[in-house]
Amino acid sequence: MIPGKRRAAVMLLSAAIVGAMLMQPVRSQNAGFVKSPLSETKLTGDTFELYCDVVGNPTPEIQWWYSEINRADSFRQLWDGARKRRVSISTAYGVNSVSVLGVSRLTLDDAGTYECRASNDPRRNDLHQNPATTWIRAQATVTVLQKPSIAASENVLLTFEEGISPGILLQCNLTSSYSAHKENFWMKNGEEIPETRQDNKNMELKLDRPRADAAGVYVCVYTFDNAPPANATIEIKSVPVITGHKRSENKNEGQRAVLHCKSLGYPHPIWTWHKVDNGGFNDIDNSTGRFFINSRDNYTELHIVNLDINADPGVYACNATNVIGSNKETSVLRVRSHLAPLWPLLGVLAEIIILIVIIVVYEKRKKPEDLQDGKQTQPTTTKTRICGRGIQTE
Ligand SMILES: *[C@@H]1O[C@H](CO)[C@@H](O)[C@H](O)[C@H]1NC(C)=O
Ligand SMILES: *[C@@H]1O[C@H](CO)[C@@H](O)[C@H](O)[C@H]1NC(C)=O
Ligand SMILES: *[C@@H]1O[C@H](CO)[C@@H](O)[C@H](O)[C@H]1NC(C)=O
Ligand SMILES: *[C@@H]1O[C@H](CO)[C@@H](O)[C@H](O)[C@H]1NC(C)=O
Ligand SMILES: *[C@@H]1O[C@H](CO)[C@@H](O)[C@H](O)[C@H]1NC(C)=O
Repeated sequence: MIPGKRRAAVMLLSAAIVGAMLMQPVRSQNAGFVKSPLSETKLTGDTFELYCDVVGNPTPEIQWWYSEINRADSFRQLWDGARKRRVSISTAYGVNSVSVLGVSRLTLDDAGTYECRASNDPRRNDLHQNPATTWIRAQATVTVLQKPSIAASENVLLTFEEGISPGILLQCNLTSSYSAHKENFWMKNGEEIPETRQDNKNMELKLDRPRADAAGVYVCVYTFDNAPPANATIEIKSVPVITGHKRSENKNEGQRAVLHCKSLGYPHPIWTWHKVDNGGFNDIDNSTGRFFINSRDNYTELHIVNLDINADPGVYACNATNVIGSNKETSVLRVRSHLAPLWPLLGVLAEIIILIVIIVVYEKRKKPEDLQDGKQTQPTTTKTRICGRGIQTE
Protein backbone atom coordinates (compact mmCIF):
# COMPACT_ATOMS: atom_id res chain seq x y z
CA MET A 1 0.00 0.00 0.00
CA ILE A 2 2.73 2.42 0.91
CA PRO A 3 4.97 1.65 -2.09
CA GLY A 4 1.85 2.15 -4.23
CA LYS A 5 1.27 5.54 -2.67
CA ARG A 6 4.89 6.35 -3.16
CA ARG A 7 4.69 5.33 -6.81
CA ALA A 8 1.61 7.50 -7.26
CA ALA A 9 3.46 10.39 -5.63
CA VAL A 10 6.46 9.82 -7.86
CA MET A 11 4.22 9.71 -10.92
CA LEU A 12 2.55 12.95 -9.87
CA LEU A 13 5.92 14.45 -9.26
CA SER A 14 7.18 13.26 -12.64
CA ALA A 15 4.12 14.76 -14.29
CA ALA A 16 4.79 18.04 -12.54
CA ILE A 17 8.41 17.94 -13.58
CA VAL A 18 7.51 17.14 -17.19
CA GLY A 19 5.05 20.03 -17.09
CA ALA A 20 7.74 22.33 -15.78
CA MET A 21 10.14 21.11 -18.46
CA LEU A 22 7.66 21.81 -21.23
CA MET A 23 7.31 25.38 -20.05
CA GLN A 24 10.99 26.12 -19.81
CA PRO A 25 13.79 23.88 -20.97
CA VAL A 26 16.12 23.14 -18.00
CA ARG A 27 19.41 21.29 -18.05
CA SER A 28 19.12 17.93 -16.28
CA GLN A 29 21.52 17.22 -13.42
CA ASN A 30 22.32 13.99 -11.55
CA ALA A 31 21.34 13.79 -7.88
CA GLY A 32 24.03 15.01 -5.45
CA PHE A 33 24.15 15.43 -1.66
CA VAL A 34 24.06 18.96 -0.29
CA LYS A 35 23.85 17.68 3.30
CA SER A 36 24.21 14.07 4.37
CA PRO A 37 23.20 12.54 7.72
CA LEU A 38 25.70 12.73 10.60
CA SER A 39 26.54 9.92 13.02
CA GLU A 40 25.25 10.39 16.55
CA THR A 41 25.36 8.85 20.02
CA LYS A 42 22.10 8.93 21.98
CA LEU A 43 20.64 7.65 25.24
CA THR A 44 17.71 5.26 25.56
CA GLY A 45 14.43 7.12 25.72
CA ASP A 46 15.77 10.06 23.69
CA THR A 47 15.05 11.01 20.07
CA PHE A 48 17.38 11.38 17.13
CA GLU A 49 16.91 13.13 13.80
CA LEU A 50 18.93 12.68 10.62
CA TYR A 51 18.87 15.20 7.78
CA CYS A 52 19.36 14.57 4.10
CA ASP A 53 19.38 17.34 1.50
CA VAL A 54 19.77 16.42 -2.17
CA VAL A 55 19.99 18.57 -5.28
CA GLY A 56 19.29 17.42 -8.86
CA ASN A 57 17.13 17.90 -11.91
CA PRO A 58 14.57 16.43 -12.08
CA THR A 59 14.03 16.70 -8.30
CA PRO A 60 15.44 13.50 -6.76
CA GLU A 61 13.41 10.99 -4.76
CA ILE A 62 14.68 10.26 -1.22
CA GLN A 63 14.41 6.98 0.71
CA TRP A 64 15.69 5.90 4.14
CA TRP A 65 17.18 2.44 4.79
CA TYR A 66 18.43 0.73 7.95
CA SER A 67 20.75 -2.12 8.83
CA GLU A 68 21.93 -3.41 12.18
CA ILE A 69 25.54 -2.63 13.01
CA ASN A 70 28.01 -4.77 10.98
CA ARG A 71 25.19 -6.23 8.84
CA ALA A 72 25.62 -4.10 5.73
CA ASP A 73 24.03 -6.85 3.64
CA SER A 74 20.72 -6.61 5.46
CA PHE A 75 19.46 -3.13 4.59
CA ARG A 76 15.70 -2.71 4.81
CA GLN A 77 13.68 0.31 3.79
CA LEU A 78 12.16 2.47 6.55
CA TRP A 79 8.81 4.11 6.26
CA ASP A 80 6.84 6.73 8.16
CA GLY A 81 5.13 5.10 11.14
CA ALA A 82 7.43 2.06 11.35
CA ARG A 83 8.58 0.58 14.69
CA LYS A 84 5.22 1.21 16.34
CA ARG A 85 5.08 4.79 15.10
CA ARG A 86 8.43 5.73 16.62
CA VAL A 87 9.82 6.36 13.12
CA SER A 88 8.81 9.52 11.30
CA ILE A 89 9.91 10.53 7.83
CA SER A 90 9.04 13.90 6.38
CA THR A 91 10.27 14.89 2.97
CA ALA A 92 9.79 18.12 1.09
CA TYR A 93 10.35 18.22 -2.66
CA GLY A 94 11.19 21.72 -3.85
CA VAL A 95 14.25 23.05 -5.63
CA ASN A 96 16.10 20.50 -3.47
CA SER A 97 14.72 17.37 -1.89
CA VAL A 98 15.01 17.61 1.88
CA SER A 99 14.14 14.74 4.19
CA VAL A 100 14.20 14.33 7.98
CA LEU A 101 14.19 10.89 9.58
CA GLY A 102 13.24 10.89 13.25
CA VAL A 103 13.21 8.00 15.71
CA SER A 104 11.78 8.66 19.17
CA ARG A 105 11.78 6.77 22.51
CA LEU A 106 15.01 5.06 21.51
CA THR A 107 15.81 1.52 22.61
CA LEU A 108 19.16 -0.23 22.39
CA ASP A 109 17.81 -2.09 19.30
CA ASP A 110 17.55 1.15 17.34
CA ALA A 111 21.34 1.35 17.09
CA GLY A 112 22.68 0.71 13.60
CA THR A 113 23.45 2.18 10.22
CA TYR A 114 20.93 4.56 8.69
CA GLU A 115 21.21 5.34 5.01
CA CYS A 116 19.76 8.16 2.94
CA ARG A 117 19.30 7.07 -0.68
CA ALA A 118 18.50 9.50 -3.46
CA SER A 119 17.94 9.22 -7.18
CA ASN A 120 16.42 11.07 -10.09
CA ASP A 121 17.38 8.38 -12.60
CA PRO A 122 14.26 7.48 -14.62
CA ARG A 123 15.28 3.80 -14.35
CA ARG A 124 15.66 3.91 -10.55
CA ASN A 125 12.68 1.67 -9.80
CA ASP A 126 13.39 -0.75 -12.63
CA LEU A 127 14.05 -4.10 -10.95
CA HIS A 128 16.48 -5.08 -13.72
CA GLN A 129 18.77 -2.21 -12.85
CA ASN A 130 21.42 -2.47 -10.13
CA PRO A 131 20.34 0.05 -7.45
CA ALA A 132 24.03 0.68 -6.75
CA THR A 133 24.30 2.46 -10.08
CA THR A 134 20.98 4.31 -10.09
CA TRP A 135 20.89 5.53 -6.44
CA ILE A 136 23.42 7.58 -4.46
CA ARG A 137 23.79 6.81 -0.74
CA ALA A 138 25.00 8.49 2.46
CA GLN A 139 25.30 6.64 5.77
CA ALA A 140 25.28 7.60 9.44
CA THR A 141 25.87 5.37 12.43
CA VAL A 142 23.57 5.81 15.41
CA THR A 143 24.85 4.48 18.72
CA VAL A 144 22.35 4.07 21.57
CA LEU A 145 23.61 3.85 25.16
CA GLN A 146 21.67 2.88 28.25
CA LYS A 147 20.52 6.09 29.94
CA PRO A 148 22.36 6.63 33.23
CA SER A 149 20.08 6.59 36.25
CA ILE A 150 19.92 9.53 38.58
CA ALA A 151 18.14 9.55 41.93
CA ALA A 152 16.80 13.04 42.45
CA SER A 153 14.92 14.82 45.25
CA GLU A 154 11.16 15.15 45.09
CA ASN A 155 9.56 18.32 43.75
CA VAL A 156 9.21 21.04 46.37
CA LEU A 157 6.23 23.23 47.23
CA LEU A 158 7.37 26.61 48.52
CA THR A 159 5.22 28.19 51.22
CA PHE A 160 5.61 31.64 52.69
CA GLU A 161 4.32 31.17 56.21
CA GLU A 162 5.42 33.72 58.76
CA GLY A 163 8.69 33.01 60.49
CA ILE A 164 11.88 31.87 58.87
CA SER A 165 11.13 29.47 56.04
CA PRO A 166 13.39 26.45 56.27
CA GLY A 167 16.10 26.12 53.65
CA ILE A 168 15.65 23.81 50.70
CA LEU A 169 18.13 21.07 49.83
CA LEU A 170 18.06 19.67 46.29
CA GLN A 171 19.98 16.45 45.68
CA CYS A 172 20.94 14.31 42.70
CA ASN A 173 22.87 11.04 42.94
CA LEU A 174 24.25 9.29 39.85
CA THR A 175 23.43 5.66 40.59
CA SER A 176 24.47 3.95 37.35
CA SER A 177 26.12 5.01 34.13
CA TYR A 178 27.63 3.62 30.96
CA SER A 179 31.01 5.21 31.70
CA ALA A 180 32.62 7.28 34.42
CA HIS A 181 31.23 10.78 34.41
CA LYS A 182 33.27 13.91 33.85
CA GLU A 183 31.57 16.65 35.80
CA ASN A 184 28.17 17.91 36.82
CA PHE A 185 26.40 21.20 37.41
CA TRP A 186 22.99 22.69 38.22
CA MET A 187 20.70 24.63 35.92
CA LYS A 188 17.76 26.85 36.80
CA ASN A 189 15.11 27.84 34.24
CA GLY A 190 17.38 26.77 31.39
CA GLU A 191 20.53 28.55 32.56
CA GLU A 192 23.56 27.14 34.30
CA ILE A 193 23.88 28.25 37.93
CA PRO A 194 27.43 29.63 38.21
CA GLU A 195 29.94 27.95 40.49
CA THR A 196 28.06 24.68 40.82
CA ARG A 197 30.46 22.60 38.67
CA GLN A 198 32.11 19.67 40.45
CA ASP A 199 32.85 15.99 39.81
CA ASN A 200 31.26 14.18 42.76
CA LYS A 201 28.61 11.55 41.90
CA ASN A 202 26.33 13.07 44.53
CA MET A 203 25.39 16.68 44.10
CA GLU A 204 23.51 19.13 46.33
CA LEU A 205 22.07 22.60 45.95
CA LYS A 206 21.19 24.53 49.11
CA LEU A 207 18.70 27.38 48.97
CA ASP A 208 18.73 29.40 52.18
CA ARG A 209 15.64 31.46 52.98
CA PRO A 210 13.97 30.79 49.63
CA ARG A 211 11.65 33.49 48.34
CA ALA A 212 9.26 33.40 45.39
CA ASP A 213 12.17 33.94 43.01
CA ALA A 214 13.56 30.54 44.09
CA ALA A 215 10.63 28.86 42.35
CA GLY A 216 11.41 27.37 38.96
CA VAL A 217 12.73 24.34 37.12
CA TYR A 218 16.01 22.96 38.43
CA VAL A 219 18.01 20.42 36.44
CA CYS A 220 21.11 18.55 37.57
CA VAL A 221 23.29 17.68 34.58
CA TYR A 222 26.02 15.00 34.45
CA THR A 223 28.47 15.11 31.55
CA PHE A 224 30.49 12.20 30.18
CA ASP A 225 33.55 11.92 27.96
CA ASN A 226 32.08 9.74 25.21
CA ALA A 227 28.36 9.88 25.83
CA PRO A 228 25.66 12.53 25.83
CA PRO A 229 24.94 14.37 29.09
CA ALA A 230 22.21 12.99 31.36
CA ASN A 231 19.97 15.00 33.64
CA ALA A 232 17.15 14.95 36.15
CA THR A 233 14.59 17.66 36.83
CA ILE A 234 13.30 18.94 40.17
CA GLU A 235 10.58 21.58 40.25
CA ILE A 236 10.14 24.13 43.00
CA LYS A 237 6.60 25.44 42.79
CA SER A 238 5.09 28.45 44.47
CA VAL A 239 2.04 30.62 44.31
CA PRO A 240 2.53 33.57 41.91
CA VAL A 241 3.69 36.68 43.74
CA ILE A 242 3.04 39.95 41.94
CA THR A 243 6.25 41.93 42.13
CA GLY A 244 5.51 44.86 39.87
CA HIS A 245 2.45 46.75 38.72
CA LYS A 246 1.35 50.24 37.81
CA ARG A 247 -0.34 51.87 40.81
CA SER A 248 -2.12 54.50 38.77
CA GLU A 249 -2.52 55.69 35.22
CA ASN A 250 -3.73 59.19 34.28
CA LYS A 251 -4.86 59.73 30.71
CA ASN A 252 -7.10 61.99 28.68
CA GLU A 253 -10.32 60.76 27.13
CA GLY A 254 -9.74 59.31 23.66
CA GLN A 255 -6.19 58.26 24.59
CA ARG A 256 -4.94 54.71 25.31
CA ALA A 257 -4.26 53.47 28.84
CA VAL A 258 -1.87 50.59 29.53
CA LEU A 259 -1.85 48.80 32.90
CA HIS A 260 0.58 45.97 33.65
CA CYS A 261 1.54 43.39 36.26
CA LYS A 262 4.46 40.99 36.55
CA SER A 263 5.01 38.03 38.82
CA LEU A 264 7.49 35.66 40.38
CA GLY A 265 6.71 32.04 41.14
CA TYR A 266 6.36 28.82 39.21
CA PRO A 267 4.47 27.58 37.21
CA HIS A 268 3.85 30.81 35.32
CA PRO A 269 0.32 32.05 36.10
CA ILE A 270 -2.82 32.37 34.04
CA TRP A 271 -3.62 36.09 34.05
CA THR A 272 -7.07 37.66 34.25
CA TRP A 273 -8.17 41.29 34.63
CA HIS A 274 -11.21 42.54 36.50
CA LYS A 275 -12.82 45.86 37.30
CA VAL A 276 -13.44 46.59 40.96
CA ASP A 277 -16.93 48.08 41.36
CA ASN A 278 -18.73 48.41 44.69
CA GLY A 279 -16.02 46.29 46.29
CA GLY A 280 -16.68 43.40 43.88
CA PHE A 281 -14.38 42.00 41.21
CA ASN A 282 -16.38 42.09 38.00
CA ASP A 283 -15.59 40.89 34.52
CA ILE A 284 -14.55 43.72 32.27
CA ASP A 285 -17.42 44.83 30.05
CA ASN A 286 -15.88 44.65 26.60
CA SER A 287 -19.10 45.33 24.68
CA THR A 288 -17.39 48.36 23.12
CA GLY A 289 -14.40 46.19 22.05
CA ARG A 290 -11.87 48.63 23.49
CA PHE A 291 -10.13 46.27 25.96
CA PHE A 292 -7.14 44.16 24.98
CA ILE A 293 -5.20 41.78 27.20
CA ASN A 294 -1.64 40.81 26.36
CA SER A 295 -0.13 38.15 28.64
CA ARG A 296 3.13 36.25 28.42
CA ASP A 297 4.43 33.94 31.16
CA ASN A 298 5.12 36.20 34.14
CA TYR A 299 3.83 39.45 32.57
CA THR A 300 0.45 40.85 31.58
CA GLU A 301 -0.80 44.10 30.05
CA LEU A 302 -4.31 45.55 29.84
CA HIS A 303 -4.78 48.07 27.05
CA ILE A 304 -7.86 50.29 26.98
CA VAL A 305 -8.10 52.27 23.76
CA ASN A 306 -10.12 55.38 23.01
CA LEU A 307 -10.75 56.09 26.72
CA ASP A 308 -14.30 56.95 27.78
CA ILE A 309 -14.48 59.54 30.56
CA ASN A 310 -17.73 58.11 31.93
CA ALA A 311 -17.27 54.37 31.68
CA ASP A 312 -13.56 53.73 32.12
CA PRO A 313 -12.20 55.48 35.25
CA GLY A 314 -11.93 53.22 38.26
CA VAL A 315 -9.91 50.45 39.85
CA TYR A 316 -8.66 47.53 37.78
CA ALA A 317 -7.21 44.31 39.22
CA CYS A 318 -4.83 41.81 37.65
CA ASN A 319 -5.17 38.27 38.99
CA ALA A 320 -2.37 35.72 38.64
CA THR A 321 -3.45 32.12 39.19
CA ASN A 322 -1.48 28.88 38.96
CA VAL A 323 -1.99 25.34 40.31
CA ILE A 324 -0.74 26.41 43.72
CA GLY A 325 -2.86 29.52 44.24
CA SER A 326 -3.48 33.07 43.17
CA ASN A 327 -2.71 36.69 43.97
CA LYS A 328 -3.91 40.02 42.67
CA GLU A 329 -2.93 43.68 42.58
CA THR A 330 -4.96 46.79 41.73
CA SER A 331 -4.33 49.91 39.67
CA VAL A 332 -6.31 53.15 39.56
CA LEU A 333 -7.22 54.61 36.18
CA ARG A 334 -8.11 58.30 35.99
CA VAL A 335 -9.48 59.82 32.80
CA ARG A 336 -9.43 63.60 32.26
CA SER A 337 -11.56 65.60 29.85
CA HIS A 338 -10.26 66.61 26.44
CA LEU A 339 -10.26 70.17 27.71
CA ALA A 340 -7.87 69.37 30.53
CA PRO A 341 -4.75 70.42 28.63
CA LEU A 342 -6.55 73.69 27.72
CA TRP A 343 -7.25 74.59 31.32
CA PRO A 344 -4.03 76.46 32.03
CA LEU A 345 -4.63 78.45 28.83
CA LEU A 346 -8.28 79.05 29.74
CA GLY A 347 -7.09 80.13 33.18
CA VAL A 348 -4.75 82.76 31.72
CA LEU A 349 -7.50 83.87 29.33
CA ALA A 350 -9.97 84.15 32.22
CA GLU A 351 -7.45 86.18 34.22
CA ILE A 352 -6.97 88.58 31.34
CA ILE A 353 -10.72 89.02 30.91
CA ILE A 354 -11.25 89.58 34.62
CA LEU A 355 -8.40 92.10 34.65
CA ILE A 356 -9.93 94.02 31.75
CA VAL A 357 -13.33 93.98 33.40
CA ILE A 358 -11.83 95.24 36.66
CA ILE A 359 -9.96 98.00 34.87
CA VAL A 360 -13.03 99.08 32.95
CA VAL A 361 -15.28 98.97 36.00
CA TYR A 362 -12.67 100.76 38.10
CA GLU A 363 -12.19 103.45 35.50
CA LYS A 364 -15.96 103.97 35.17
CA ARG A 365 -16.40 104.25 38.92
CA LYS A 366 -13.34 106.46 39.31
CA LYS A 367 -14.58 109.15 36.86
CA PRO A 368 -16.93 111.16 39.15
CA GLU A 369 -14.21 111.35 41.82
CA ASP A 370 -11.69 112.57 39.25
CA LEU A 371 -13.99 115.41 38.32
CA GLN A 372 -14.31 116.42 41.94
CA ASP A 373 -10.58 116.11 42.58
CA GLY A 374 -8.73 119.10 41.15
CA LYS A 375 -5.18 117.90 41.94
CA GLN A 376 -4.77 115.71 38.88
CA THR A 377 -1.57 115.32 36.90
CA GLN A 378 -1.49 115.84 33.17
CA PRO A 379 -1.59 112.23 31.93
CA THR A 380 -4.53 111.40 34.12
CA THR A 381 -6.34 114.39 32.76
CA THR A 382 -5.69 113.15 29.25
CA LYS A 383 -7.02 109.77 30.23
CA THR A 384 -10.05 111.37 31.76
CA ARG A 385 -10.58 113.28 28.60
CA ILE A 386 -10.48 110.08 26.61
CA CYS A 387 -12.96 108.62 29.00
CA GLY A 388 -15.05 111.68 28.65
CA ARG A 389 -14.98 111.35 24.90
CA GLY A 390 -16.01 107.72 25.27
CA ILE A 391 -18.96 108.85 27.25
CA GLN A 392 -19.74 111.45 24.63
CA THR A 393 -19.85 108.88 21.89
CA GLU A 394 -22.09 106.57 23.90
C1 LIG B 1 22.01 10.78 47.73
O1 LIG B 1 23.03 10.14 48.46
C2 LIG B 1 23.16 10.61 49.79
C3 LIG B 1 24.39 9.96 50.41
O2 LIG B 1 24.38 8.59 50.17
C4 LIG B 1 21.89 10.28 50.55
O3 LIG B 1 21.98 10.74 51.88
C5 LIG B 1 20.73 10.98 49.87
O4 LIG B 1 19.50 10.62 50.48
C6 LIG B 1 20.67 10.57 48.40
N1 LIG B 1 19.67 11.44 47.77
C7 LIG B 1 18.74 10.97 46.95
C8 LIG B 1 17.80 11.97 46.38
O5 LIG B 1 18.65 9.80 46.66
C1 LIG C 1 17.77 16.66 29.79
O1 LIG C 1 17.70 15.44 29.10
C2 LIG C 1 16.71 15.39 28.08
C3 LIG C 1 16.67 13.97 27.55
O2 LIG C 1 17.94 13.46 27.41
C4 LIG C 1 17.05 16.41 27.01
O3 LIG C 1 16.08 16.39 25.99
C5 LIG C 1 17.11 17.76 27.65
O4 LIG C 1 17.50 18.73 26.69
C6 LIG C 1 18.08 17.79 28.83
N1 LIG C 1 17.95 19.04 29.51
C7 LIG C 1 18.99 19.78 29.86
C8 LIG C 1 18.68 21.04 30.54
O5 LIG C 1 20.15 19.45 29.63
C1 LIG D 1 9.89 36.49 33.62
O1 LIG D 1 10.22 35.40 32.78
C2 LIG D 1 11.32 35.65 31.92
C3 LIG D 1 11.51 34.43 31.05
O2 LIG D 1 10.51 33.52 31.20
C4 LIG D 1 12.57 35.94 32.76
O3 LIG D 1 13.64 36.23 31.90
C5 LIG D 1 12.29 37.11 33.67
O4 LIG D 1 13.40 37.33 34.51
C6 LIG D 1 11.06 36.85 34.51
N1 LIG D 1 10.75 38.02 35.27
C7 LIG D 1 10.40 37.94 36.53
C8 LIG D 1 10.06 39.22 37.21
O5 LIG D 1 10.36 36.87 37.10
C1 LIG E 1 -12.55 42.99 23.34
O1 LIG E 1 -13.15 43.04 22.10
C2 LIG E 1 -12.23 43.15 21.00
C3 LIG E 1 -13.02 43.34 19.72
O2 LIG E 1 -14.06 42.43 19.66
C4 LIG E 1 -11.37 41.91 20.97
O3 LIG E 1 -10.44 41.99 19.89
C5 LIG E 1 -10.61 41.81 22.27
O4 LIG E 1 -9.84 40.62 22.30
C6 LIG E 1 -11.60 41.82 23.45
N1 LIG E 1 -10.83 41.90 24.66
C7 LIG E 1 -11.05 41.12 25.71
C8 LIG E 1 -10.24 41.37 26.90
O5 LIG E 1 -11.89 40.21 25.66
C1 LIG F 1 -8.23 34.96 40.75
O1 LIG F 1 -9.01 34.27 39.80
C2 LIG F 1 -9.27 32.94 40.16
C3 LIG F 1 -9.94 32.26 38.97
O2 LIG F 1 -10.99 33.06 38.50
C4 LIG F 1 -10.10 32.88 41.40
O3 LIG F 1 -10.36 31.56 41.76
C5 LIG F 1 -9.32 33.55 42.52
O4 LIG F 1 -10.10 33.64 43.68
C6 LIG F 1 -8.88 34.94 42.12
N1 LIG F 1 -7.90 35.36 43.09
C7 LIG F 1 -7.96 36.50 43.72
C8 LIG F 1 -6.85 36.78 44.69
O5 LIG F 1 -8.86 37.28 43.49
